[in-house]
Amino acid sequence: MPSPIDAPPHIDALLSRLHQQSLDQEAALKAPSAAARFVSSDLTDLTPTAAEVPFDALMRDKFIALDAAKCVFTYNLLRATGATTVVEAGTSFGVSTIYLALAVARNAAAMGKEGRVIGTEKEEGKAAEARRYWRECGSEVEGVIDLRLGDLLDTLKDGFAEVDCLLLDIWTPLALPTLKLVQPKMRKGAVVLADNTLTAAEGYKELLEYLRAPNSGFTNLTLPYDGGFEMSVYSPR
Ligand SMILES: C[S@@+](CC[C@H](N)C(=O)[O-])C[C@H]1O[C@@H](n2cnc3c(N)ncnc32)[C@H](O)[C@@H]1O
Repeated sequence: MPSPIDAPPHIDALLSRLHQQSLDQEAALKAPSAAARFVSSDLTDLTPTAAEVPFDALMRDKFIALDAAKCVFTYNLLRATGATTVVEAGTSFGVSTIYLALAVARNAAAMGKEGRVIGTEKEEGKAAEARRYWRECGSEVEGVIDLRLGDLLDTLKDGFAEVDCLLLDIWTPLALPTLKLVQPKMRKGAVVLADNTLTAAEGYKELLEYLRAPNSGFTNLTLPYDGGFEMSVYSPR
């Protein structure tokens, strides 16, 4: 059996359970009988339409976790690049954060450095639930996570440097402003990952134009995961 991540059995079991819960929720949201309908083909690009349940209220208790395959890819990318400082824009119940924390903790231990995953969440309830899951994982995971509660455009203003990776798993209109906030703190060779850049291409228009502009300092590729997973490497001359 392949072992795509190096995690103890209790974390593997927790991750399987959480991914399944997230998938079940997403299926229910997309079902024609769902109370609200959405304009997007993908949940990361959900936008409210008139007379529907307010977007924030509807999403308040929803996971919308990053797909397991993308989480596994990200874990291995972080291990391969020795990342020790990772910023996650959009933490929700903290599923992807567990992968980031596992990779960063292992890298930090191997390199004798401090490791940190800066998570961001504006919903207090989601943040509390995420913290419960991280506690269940144990101190290796819990100990490297610095969760910032509030609007990420405020919480990511300072308090970190030398970012190795920025994961954009956030409502698409926030993606470019978040990148612009974090970019001055990214090291050369840092990686930016953005979820669902194919299915939510319209929502990501400004981000992708920025990343792909001549002389942007980024090289870009769209990884063929479900919905597309954009990987951009910051390599200014
Ligand atoms: C797609 S979910 C993140 C899923 C998470 N990465 C995972 O895989 O488990 C996006 C999250 O971003 C949060 N969010 C939306 N706008 C935000 C903002 N301005 N500041 C901080 N968090 C925000 C939402 O509440 C939501 O929980």
